[in-house]
Amino acid sequence: MLSSTNAITPNGYLRFRNFLQKACGISLSENKQYLVASRLGKTLERENFTKIEQLVDALERAGSARLKEEVINAMTTNETLWFRDSHPFTILKNKVLPEMTARPLKIWSAASSTGQEPYSISMVIDEFKSLRPGVLKAGERIVATDICTNILQHAKQGEYDSLAIARGLGAD
Ligand SMILES: C[S@@+](CC[C@H](N)C(=O)[O-])C[C@H]1O[C@@H](n2cnc3c(N)ncnc32)[C@H](O)[C@@H]1O
Repeated sequence: MLSSTNAITPNGYLRFRNFLQKACGISLSENKQYLVASRLGKTLERENFTKIEQLVDALERAGSARLKEEVINAMTTNETLWFRDSHPFTILKNKVLPEMTARPLKIWSAASSTGQEPYSISMVIDEFKSLRPGVLKAGERIVATDICTNILQHAKQGEYDSLAIARGLGAD
């Protein structure tokens, strides 16, 4: 079992970093061996891999799509909250929406995590429409995607516990 960062050899770690960068653009810094060990420990144990090199070898073999998905899911950080980084939402409300009233509006939340971002966007649009009935005549559409397949189901369900709700969502 890969329980210790010592099992991640410098060469194996370098190969894993390259794999992850190529597979999904996530760039691990030089000293994140502990993160890899903690997030992939169970996968390595199940696969009977004692070294990270064995995992990279398996990922590079044809037919490794499921393992690749599992590794990417484990390595993504899905931290999110409502109206995160308030600036883009202010721009959406004060600039983008007023200027887009005649054209179909299509917004892509490309890394939506559990959905707080696309639902925050939809709340801004709803509030805009309720203040100006009849605007956005051409309709609006929000598309949410994420490379992590685990969290997309959560995003689709749109159900949040009180802890998640408390992170950035006002009472109204
Ligand atoms: C820190 S969360 C940010 C979520 C949201 N955009 C926000 O700002 O609150 C980063 C998300 O990016 C996703 N991600 C990472 N690499 C990605 C890629 N190449 N394509 C799509 N999503 C990716 C992760 O799975 C994760 O859910």
